[in-house]
Amino acid sequence: MKATARAHTNIALIKYWGKRNESLILPANSNLSVTLDGFSTETTVHFQEHLTEDSFILNEQSAEEDARTKIAVFLDKVRALSGKEIYAQVQSVNHVPTAAGFASSASGLAALAAASTKAIGLSLEDRELSRLARQGSGSASRSIYGGFVEWQMGEREDGLDSYAIQVADASHWNIRIAAVVLSKTVKKVSSREGMRRTIDTSPFYAGWLEQTAKDLQEIKQAIADKDFEKMGSVTEANCLRMHATTLGANPPFTYWQDNTMRVMQTVQGLREQGIPAFFTIDAGPNVKVLYLPEDEDKIKTRLNAVEGVEDIIISKPGSGISYM
Ligand code: ADP
Ligand code: DP6
Repeated sequence: MKATARAHTNIALIKYWGKRNESLILPANSNLSVTLDGFSTETTVHFQEHLTEDSFILNEQSAEEDARTKIAVFLDKVRALSGKEIYAQVQSVNHVPTAAGFASSASGLAALAAASTKAIGLSLEDRELSRLARQGSGSASRSIYGGFVEWQMGEREDGLDSYAIQVADASHWNIRIAAVVLSKTVKKVSSREGMRRTIDTSPFYAGWLEQTAKDLQEIKQAIADKDFEKMGSVTEANCLRMHATTLGANPPFTYWQDNTMRVMQTVQGLREQGIPAFFTIDAGPNVKVLYLPEDEDKIKTRLNAVEGVEDIIISKPGSGISYM
């Protein structure tokens, strides 16, 4: 009863920001991401009869109690699905900074969903796996698949129609995504808390929701047409609108730092010189830059020169879940 799975993180081009159901993790809007081959998690789950509780080792260290509890709550769902009352040792390695805005929760929970269901003897289809991973962390529902992925919000109260589907596979479009590392420290406001505070208190939230549905339709067309300018401009505008909602929250907050602004301005400056590059930012200070492979050298040179840039990690569209 042991299995190992690998999942990649993803970056949302149309953001998931706000839940319509907190406990089932159902999003207030459908959203879309690209899976990143540069960041991943590998997780081994070993169910054993003699264990009296679940244990969790992350990056070769015993995880803190609340991280272990989250794993146990997730494994309860897997146990309920399988009908087997058995505990597990979970060992995971993040090839991605943890809780710093690089989506470790997406790759982490997707890898956990895949490894735990296989280890306990369940054989789930991708759609079912996506629905399960969603209940660990919303963005994990998308990391089951490679390439370009849409998480459909669904309408049902029980969440059965809220799962991700692949819009285009990783080979569809040879774009690049640079993760510009400004800080790897753990963020002050988690995405979970940030979206909760925003949906509860920000008067800008209604405007965000209305426009996001339109953005999603536009970006799907841009991906189908491989229209990079269109995809990039919709991505950037959607990101800015998401971050604007946090400024309207009570108490207000922002994930940006001064370095974040510097990178954003550099990307806009690149465009003024005719180089198509667009940014997006999740719940953290770090910036991801979308560009085409032929512009890689220029993009790297310009981004490396920005004050505060610690590292640049380049990804292509990556693959979905794999088992080892
Ligand atoms: P991030 O930007 O890294 O996704 P979050 O605060 O949204 O930051 O999520 C981080 C949380 O995800 C961690 O506190 C932990 O509970 C969970 N997590 C991260 N990595 C793993 C992993 N490999 N396996 C299981 N859970 C993980
Ligand atoms: C800003 O999936 O980490 O990265 O469902 O509460 O675990 P929970 O949140 P999470 O939120 C991701 C928010 C985002 C946008 C996105 O990835 O779509």
